[in-house]
Amino acid sequence: MNADIPVLTIDGPSGSGKGTICALVARELGWHLLDSGALYRLVALGASRHDIDLANEAALAEYAAGLDVCFELQADGSAPRILLEGETVGDAIRTEACGNAASKVAALGSVRESLLQRQRDFQQPPGLVADGRDMGTVVFPQAGVKIFLTASVDERAQRRYKQLKDKGISANLPDLLTEIAERDDRDAQRSVSPLKPAADAVMLDTTSLTIIEVRDKVLGLCRERFEQLRQ
Ligand code: DC
Repeated sequence: MNADIPVLTIDGPSGSGKGTICALVARELGWHLLDSGALYRLVALGASRHDIDLANEAALAEYAAGLDVCFELQADGSAPRILLEGETVGDAIRTEACGNAASKVAALGSVRESLLQRQRDFQQPPGLVADGRDMGTVVFPQAGVKIFLTASVDERAQRRYKQLKDKGISANLPDLLTEIAERDDRDAQRSVSPLKPAADAVMLDTTSLTIIEVRDKVLGLCRERFEQLRQ
């Protein structure tokens, strides 16, 4: 890891607000953004399109190693356009079904290994905000600031429900609660790179905080700790 290029890692379970906060902080700092969950989702989507069985670890790892993906940055700073094998898949990877398949794919050690260097390559000047489950523990263990975001399962299900409703997608709150709890369990219990805070991570419970409050806390920590932001 290049010690001159600062890295902020934000890990945490689904619905803790990581995605929103990482995008806001990256935009504020003018840093690159790694959405590592999108990579697992892309492998899951590609696997289903190429009829690769989710139990076939070797084939999935091979597919992940050669994943043909492009994150096209947008001039207005909005979320990058995601292309899989040349096709825009931004919406297709955000479905609950794709998230659940991604969580299964992400439990496979050789798939994670296949995606490791690709994730590290996102560390480019002037800095990187890395969003995921193992950013601070495995992918960027030397990161200058590590944050672990949490929120109660009820709150996270409510947030997801609202997000889906806002997009016009029908959703059922009790089902979402069960799915989120199951996914948490799978992400935390797997033997490779389980979801857990790094020993040196700052824990931040967002249950009763607004997005702006969380963003400002994270930016405050970055300004305190990163020399580059004080020059
Ligand atoms: O953050 P997300 O919901 O887009 O992630 C999709 C799945 O990928 C999630 O169930 C856990 C997994 N994941 C992971 O294991 N490691 C990461 N660094 C990011 C996501």
